[in-house]
Amino acid sequence: MHLNSALISSFLLASVSLAGRPRSQRQNLVQKPANTSSDGVVYNNGFAGLVWPLDNGTFYSVNGTVTIPKVSGPTNASATIAVGIDGTVCPGSSAILQAGVDAIVTSSGIDYKAWFESDSYTDIDNNLMISASDHIQLTVQAWDEHSGFAVIKNLNTGQQASRQLQSSEPLCRQKVYCGVETMWTADTMFPFPSFDAVTFTDAVATSTSGQPYGPQGAMIYDIELNGTVMTSVTCLADYSVTIKYV
Ligand SMILES: *[C@@H]1O[C@H](CO)[C@@H](O)[C@H](O)[C@H]1NC(C)=O
Ligand SMILES: *[C@@H]1O[C@H](CO)[C@@H](O)[C@H](O)[C@H]1NC(C)=O
Ligand SMILES: *[C@@H]1O[C@H](CO)[C@@H](O)[C@H](O)[C@H]1NC(C)=O
Ligand SMILES: *[C@@H]1O[C@H](CO)[C@@H](O)[C@H](O)[C@H]1NC(C)=O
Ligand SMILES: *[C@@H]1O[C@H](CO)[C@@H](O)[C@H](O)[C@H]1NC(C)=O
Repeated sequence: MHLNSALISSFLLASVSLAGRPRSQRQNLVQKPANTSSDGVVYNNGFAGLVWPLDNGTFYSVNGTVTIPKVSGPTNASATIAVGIDGTVCPGSSAILQAGVDAIVTSSGIDYKAWFESDSYTDIDNNLMISASDHIQLTVQAWDEHSGFAVIKNLNTGQQASRQLQSSEPLCRQKVYCGVETMWTADTMFPFPSFDAVTFTDAVATSTSGQPYGPQGAMIYDIELNGTVMTSVTCLADYSVTIKYV
């Protein structure tokens, strides 16, 4: 879940208990089913997409290109597309680095905004122009326990925004993810809009030693709100994943 104000993020609460689970030996396979008690999908109210949880210190970056969807719903209906590293997974730390694009329904249309976030701040970029159907490449890197870098590039215009990121608490570089998040202010969730399918192509995480991890077999998360499943996540090909509104 992405907070649209500069509050401390509490992203992916549901994944805390899953972070340390045993994993497959295959390089691009974490574990699937992730939740053997059901259909292998983790249902939660904050995030739909893929989560790669491995060991402390594994990851260097996560990277994917996404087509910006049209969204629809009442005024203030909001969803955000994100890639990120960690987030409630590090023991005793709420460290996180993430970046993405908000889609917010306003009275005059859809407002798309690039943003960057760590455990202690959200930085909205007001200069990068983003429109529906644009192809946006999102990259987040963790350089060490407290710093990283993120780039949001609009491949249609060639413009990009980037930030050096600081995490006040120590990152463990144990989990990366890409997907669609609900948006919150304090404890209140903004209405969740319907949206065109969001497809990440070239979705890839890399380890500190340069090893790539593709989506096949990463854990699948879907958003469930008040008992209704809102999304359906499918891995399409080696480095491609789609999040559909259902
Ligand atoms: C697994 O799925 C079941 C049913 O959806 C749910 O009750 C349980 O909390 C899930 N477990 C984990 C670890 O996500
Ligand atoms: C992100 O993706 C682009 C295009 O595939 C690639 O050139 C770049 O090296 C990637 N960055 C990282 C940090 O993996
Ligand atoms: C939209 O959200 C803002 C707060 O972020 C609130 O002040 C406003 O009343 C909301 N509008 C509607 C129509 O819900
Ligand atoms: C991760 O590993 C490093 C080095 O082994 C260690 O110092 C650190 O405490 C670990 N962090 C977590 C969150 O487990
Ligand atoms: C879920 O139900 C609660 C009350 O049970 C309601 O306040 C809330 O608006 C509902 N949320 C959604 C997303 O339907």
